[in-house]
Amino acid sequence: MTRRRPLLVSTVLALAVVAVVGWFWVGSLVPGTYSVMDMGYADHGTGPTSAAGPGGHHHGAGTAPVAAPGTTVADPVSVRDLVGDRSRSPDVSYTLTVAQRPDGGYTVNGTSPGPVVEATQGDLVQVVLRNEDVAEGTTLHWHGMDVPNGEDGVAGVTQDAVPAGGEHVYRFVADEPGTYWYHSHQISHEQVVRGLLGAVVVHPAPSAEAPDADGPPTTDVLALLHTYAGVGRTVNGSTGDTPVPLAPGQPARVRLVNTDDGPTQIWVSGAAYRVLAVDGQDLNGPTPVQGRRVTLTAGARVDLEVEVPATGAARVQAPGVSLVLGPAGATAPTTPAPSEALDLLSYGTPADPGFDPARADRRFDYVISRRFGLLDGRPGLWWTINDHLFPDVPMFMVAEGDVVVMTMSNYSGEVHPMHLHGHHALVLSRDGVPSTGSPWWVDSLDVPDGQTYEIAFAADNPGIWMDHCHNLPHAREGLVTHLMYEGVSTPFLVGGPADNEPE
Ligand code: C2O
Ligand code: CU
Repeated sequence: MTRRRPLLVSTVLALAVVAVVGWFWVGSLVPGTYSVMDMGYADHGTGPTSAAGPGGHHHGAGTAPVAAPGTTVADPVSVRDLVGDRSRSPDVSYTLTVAQRPDGGYTVNGTSPGPVVEATQGDLVQVVLRNEDVAEGTTLHWHGMDVPNGEDGVAGVTQDAVPAGGEHVYRFVADEPGTYWYHSHQISHEQVVRGLLGAVVVHPAPSAEAPDADGPPTTDVLALLHTYAGVGRTVNGSTGDTPVPLAPGQPARVRLVNTDDGPTQIWVSGAAYRVLAVDGQDLNGPTPVQGRRVTLTAGARVDLEVEVPATGAARVQAPGVSLVLGPAGATAPTTPAPSEALDLLSYGTPADPGFDPARADRRFDYVISRRFGLLDGRPGLWWTINDHLFPDVPMFMVAEGDVVVMTMSNYSGEVHPMHLHGHHALVLSRDGVPSTGSPWWVDSLDVPDGQTYEIAFAADNPGIWMDHCHNLPHAREGLVTHLMYEGVSTPFLVGGPADNEPE
């Protein structure tokens, strides 16, 4: 009898361990179909909690939201209704047909990158997405453009993935001039890497353009960077040197777009340059730069002003590729990347950003780390947000009109290019050092390991917006959460009949 007790104890212990492991395992499973509104837990930051967050406001279809004392909650607005103008005819119209090549790559109208979507500030843009044969379905997301939420192109959040043979119409006003890009947001970690993307350029309205000085008008040069498997890094789809025929003395605005998963470096030889814009937003008072590189975050854009020298050419370089700006036959030697990077925290001159981050209505922390755990039942070293593993991550809750400050820190051992949809954020400080240059607006911001950025944005675009790492495999590994406006709901489901898989 006395011998059975240890056996019993160890059996009970073993069962307990199995039960606990099983409980964590089950708890980590991501349902095959779910609404992002049910994901994680509501984080209201330092602001009021006037609406219930995920899981709290729709237990069962048709349950009315709970109003805080002294307030009423209107019926939620569906993202379906947060769309561009359908009543008038568009000023510019594109049809983008997406297809899959036998080698697994994707094309848009037969090429990758796809055609440049161009508009003039104020234009109502229509893009008809046609999915020729992409079996998993596809969407188009307008990276960096603050479009209405229903036009944001995120499968399972703002629309269903468009099935093979189907189509979807996007409409939005291109109200902010600048350099942007489009890409699939269905199985994005594969479709984007394999080429389902293109650039968007919004030209300033003629009246907004600076009055012509004595020199020749600036030429626009697009430089979309993408690394294709088996090919390497390309600029506008070409490897090596891309000649851009321009006369001596001709100024160019080189619009660089990084569509890869990691940061890259840009530098110029043969001429000085100025950084005219970052992420589509013009900088104030940019000064000439020489002997420094610019770090181009994954998903980010910079517009550089480069003037063709009197003799020879100017070379705009990224590792492995160059644009050679100059008369036919003119060359400039390749040069190694300068060791020092331009610091945008102190570049240019300050200006009124148009809102006061010191009077923030809400402050959030977005702390990225990494720990051992289970992600969808798979053990591993996974990213965490505020110490939570996907899908149990914070849902950042805001009300329209809030001024929001977010402190983003990274203790995960790797850099993360953080991308908030639908908003531009102003960089306030890095590691406690305030921004002293031009207002520095971003939609894609590298948060390196061990660093902390404080950013601010105006919550002026109601919807449910992804806020994720643009190293897309990292998003796939759970580094994704959402910004959710009170009173907005989505009928779309991750999974579901359309097999929506945004990451
Ligand atoms: Cu360019 Cu959510 O992405
Ligand atoms: Cu990342």
